Amino acid sequence: MIPAQLICKKRDGGELSADEIRAFIAGVTDGTLRDYQIAAMLMAIFFRGLSGAELATWADAMTRSGDVLDLSSIPRAKVDKHSTGGVGDKISIPLAPAVAACGVAVPMVSGRGLGHTGGTLDKLESIPGFSVNLSIERFIEQTGRLGTCLIGQTERIAPADKSLYALRDVTGTVESVPLIASSIMSKKLAEGIDGLVLDCKVGRGAFMKTIDRAKELCAAIAQIGHAAGKRVTCVLTAMDEPIGRTIGNALEIRESIEVLRGGGPADTRELTCVLGGEMLVLGGVVPDAAAGAARIAEVLANGAALEVFRQVVAAQGGNPEVCDSPGRVLPKAAHRQELSLPPGTITAIDSEKLGLAALLLGAGRVRKEDVIDPAAGLVVDAYVGEVIGKDAPPSVLLHHNLPEGDARVTNARALILGAFFLSLIHISE
Ligand code: URA
Repeated sequence: MIPAQLICKKRDGGELSADEIRAFIAGVTDGTLRDYQIAAMLMAIFFRGLSGAELATWADAMTRSGDVLDLSSIPRAKVDKHSTGGVGDKISIPLAPAVAACGVAVPMVSGRGLGHTGGTLDKLESIPGFSVNLSIERFIEQTGRLGTCLIGQTERIAPADKSLYALRDVTGTVESVPLIASSIMSKKLAEGIDGLVLDCKVGRGAFMKTIDRAKELCAAIAQIGHAAGKRVTCVLTAMDEPIGRTIGNALEIRESIEVLRGGGPADTRELTCVLGGEMLVLGGVVPDAAAGAARIAEVLANGAALEVFRQVVAAQGGNPEVCDSPGRVLPKAAHRQELSLPPGTITAIDSEKLGLAALLLGAGRVRKEDVIDPAAGLVVDAYVGEVIGKDAPPSVLLHHNLPEGDARVTNARALILGAFFLSLIHISE
């Protein structure tokens, strides 16, 4: 392979052959290609895209750049969910045990939070003792025994994606649909799943800001999945306000446990049922999504999903008492400060700003190496369409451990106030 020739071919709108793509990805994985060559190819793809055949091969080569798990020892269907990331998105936590309780295995390899959206791993690690760093052997054993296991990405899963993503991040090539789709799918296909439900968020605070872009991503994901012989369902969900009422790691675990007890905010419960219902369809245990959603609602209400979660927490080293007394087990912030919104009707919420405010309070990372505060975050008791009266109770509660007078708290308050779009009403004295 002469890298410059492949780069020129793509730059000029040509189609790369399967051998050329596999050689290029092999060069990314073994380090023989230079960063500038990879970056130039990424930019060429950014502008020229990938044909259907190129996309399938590019994603397959990325998947095979590391280990592809063999889950054939697990007799149940294996189905995972991927969300493109939303503020307050804690759905994986009630979803995985609920789907497992219905007989479909969920081998879940998740990510950490970076920027304004949180990561499932950080949320789980707010449960004292919970480990997401299990060996692949333990991951497979636990998924077989309990129906689910939640771990972080290992060096052995899609290593080409790690190199490509790091370069995309600094070369203005993140927002390319074929590159996003192949990045997501390489990691999911390496899990050895039979099917995938994609929860594609759309709107303010989402990676995909418009329905058209979201549809484009769904089509690319489905194309890669089908080429690999997997079943794929894509669901578009609105990200015009945070999911649930909490943003921040321990706070979101607490809310997830409410959902696992059959309660919690209606939107969080509904999304768990909708996505879980689709996963049960792909797993072949229900005839349609409505029956699947009803099954998920049932295991949330009757405690079966909570029981699976309890066993998962114990198996992964966490304190299972979190299921009964989350307030006692989870870390709590030293400070809780109320922030009132001005009177009016909430017409829209910029969730990205709320995510950034939570990040400033310590709930998220700006750089990969930043240490997060599991107790920090927000409880947002305000929905789109809600009318805030003059004497209404405070709508946002800030949880943090920052010292008095810290500028981050002031900046977080400003972000929160700017996140709410209000149609102001005049209230006469
Ligand atoms: N998530 C991924 O895993 N990859 C991307 O490229 C974007 C979001």
